[in-house]
Amino acid sequence: MNKVCITGITGQTGSYLAEIFLQNGYDVYGLIRRTSNFNTQRIEHIFDDINLSYGDLSSFSSIQKFIQETQPDIFINAAAQSHVRVSFDVPEYTMDTIAMGNIRCLEALRINSPQTRYLHAATSEMFGSAPPPQNENTPFHPRSPYACAKVCAYYSTINYREAYKMHASNSISFNHESPRRGHTFVTKKITKAAARIKYGLQDKLRLGNLDAKRDWSHAKDIAHAMYLIVTADKPDDYVIGSGKAHSIKEFLEIVFKKLDLNWEDYVVFDEKYLRPTEVDVLCSDNTKIKEKLFWEPEYSFEQLIDEMIDHDLKEARNEKLIRDNV
Ligand code: NAP
Ligand code: GDD
Repeated sequence: MNKVCITGITGQTGSYLAEIFLQNGYDVYGLIRRTSNFNTQRIEHIFDDINLSYGDLSSFSSIQKFIQETQPDIFINAAAQSHVRVSFDVPEYTMDTIAMGNIRCLEALRINSPQTRYLHAATSEMFGSAPPPQNENTPFHPRSPYACAKVCAYYSTINYREAYKMHASNSISFNHESPRRGHTFVTKKITKAAARIKYGLQDKLRLGNLDAKRDWSHAKDIAHAMYLIVTADKPDDYVIGSGKAHSIKEFLEIVFKKLDLNWEDYVVFDEKYLRPTEVDVLCSDNTKIKEKLFWEPEYSFEQLIDEMIDHDLKEARNEKLIRDNV
């Protein structure tokens, strides 16, 4: 049985990665942090099929122990303080866990299990203000502590590939969303609010910049691409995205219209959601992964939105029933 270790397994993408590896016959091991509340909601349905160990990207010894105990064939580092806006509030922590955390994983593997394949979850945020479409040859211009940390982790991964001949790759993913998306990211914030407004549970939605454009995919499609990258014969770096960009305003319009609502009646501008430096347009050129690894996304933008709305409508309905004591 092949073994895969996943950091960030309790996160959106980590949970889909765990499912994909289970479906492909792997033994799945996840590193989770101890938190004062449960953080395993996204993996409850596969809880009995996976193995979890406590640890943290800030602790080399916990990563080393995880690797020594599992001796994995594949190690995917999908953990991060992944919120761009928050990275301006906690730059040092973000840099430590993303940039140093990645080095800790690579170094623990180099010392204990150098034959293990490695994948770092890099990001389109690294392109920052570089004009679209962005591909593997686009120069980086990071615009946040989060993006600066990811650029460091990206190059460290390449350095370990070149210096130690490790099978180390980067996935350069554009934005990916799903019903499992964290509630403070803009898509989830919008679908959840629209559903709650529909059920009379909320009357306003506070947002920042509506003009930025993002290339949104379903997280399941991105996790599948990550699987293809780390199981490919040769290590390499790949952009993953849909190739289409939409503004936040367009996303709002589509979601509210599907619920027969007019977004302008509910959305309130709040400057606290602005970033000191914004990334205006991210749009992928996904030619390389399509041609070399034959990746094709399963979900359209519309299907992604429908799945998120359906899920959030069900949650809002349950919330309303509980509130009305039915
Ligand atoms: P997410 O939902 O925010 O999940 C992040 C995961 O990292 C969670 O499991 C979290 O644990 C864990 N984590 C955070 N800090 C940690 C630490 N110090 N030590 C150990 N674990 C820690 O993020 P995601 O959307 O799944 O993204 C997965 C990865 O892809 C991240 O590296 C992210 O930066 C990158 N990425 C995401 C996107 C996107 O659009 N989603 C695009 C490009 C790249 P808790 O559950 O305990 O919080
Ligand atoms: N979160 C948030 N909340 N964003 C808002 C809001 C709001 O209330 N209002 C407007 N926005 C705008 C942000 O300014 C940004 O331009 C855009 O919506 C998307 O914000 P997020 O959903 O927070 O995602 P992100 O693009 O900053 O970062 C995500 O994608 C990256 C890949 O490009 C994260 O998942 C990162 O971890 C990931 O690397």
